[in-house]
Amino acid sequence: MTPVQELSAEQVIAVHLGGDQPACLTCSFQAEDMVVLDLARRVRAEIPVLFLETGYHFAETYAYRDRYRREWNLNLINLAADLSVRQQESQFGILHQTNPTECCRMRKVEPLFRGLGGYRIWLTGLRREQSPTRANLKKVEPHVLPDGRSLLKLSPLADWTTKDVWRYLRENNIDPLPLYERGYTSIGCAPCTALPADPNNPRSGRWGGVKLECGIHTFSERKEP
Ligand code: ADX
Ligand code: SF4
Repeated sequence: MTPVQELSAEQVIAVHLGGDQPACLTCSFQAEDMVVLDLARRVRAEIPVLFLETGYHFAETYAYRDRYRREWNLNLINLAADLSVRQQESQFGILHQTNPTECCRMRKVEPLFRGLGGYRIWLTGLRREQSPTRANLKKVEPHVLPDGRSLLKLSPLADWTTKDVWRYLRENNIDPLPLYERGYTSIGCAPCTALPADPNNPRSGRWGGVKLECGIHTFSERKEP
């Protein structure tokens, strides 16, 4: 039998979504997430699609999310923070400028970990090539939530290249988020996303290059055998 880490993206998804374990997908509507979403919806059309609705996304991201929600009849779940953007800014100021880690904690990490509570399987669009912090990413690994509950985190595209992602979108007639046409290579909240400063580092436009991860993903430094 093929070891789980060597399964293809389609196989990872088929094996784990084939049964009746509660599963969801986190989706930022970037290119990778559209691939995983397309593969997943072929197996489970109604799979919950969790979008971290920070209130700070680009207008283009909201429009694209709504377009695909309509066209693919997605079971979209927007996960929001306890505080609205207005409430957060009036209580704490502009945290994405003064303390982005705290802003991400309040608007992404907490809502996500709360939202993941009811599931046993979590699909992401993470890839090893995206960042040195992701170089040891596994296709299948356990993830323990702060309350101790454990779920299986799947990254079926772990070993895909950027070219593989774009080929899949082309071959399957999926339009990418229009912000890519403007030169963005990694897209999150608008205030923390710029054009890449380093053409060889697609994530160099995120958080002005001062922060590599928002905190929703934690990675092992250890190279797996
Ligand atoms: S991030 O952690 O820096 O934002 P990145 O943008 O590369 O990561 O996305 C990696 C994965 O995190 C995506 O494949 C998706 O599963 C999840 N993710 C990131 N942003 C969101 C979002 N706004 N809503 C839902 N999932 C997200
Ligand atoms: Fe806040 Fe920026 Fe994190 Fe979005 S990416 S939650 S705006 S710090």
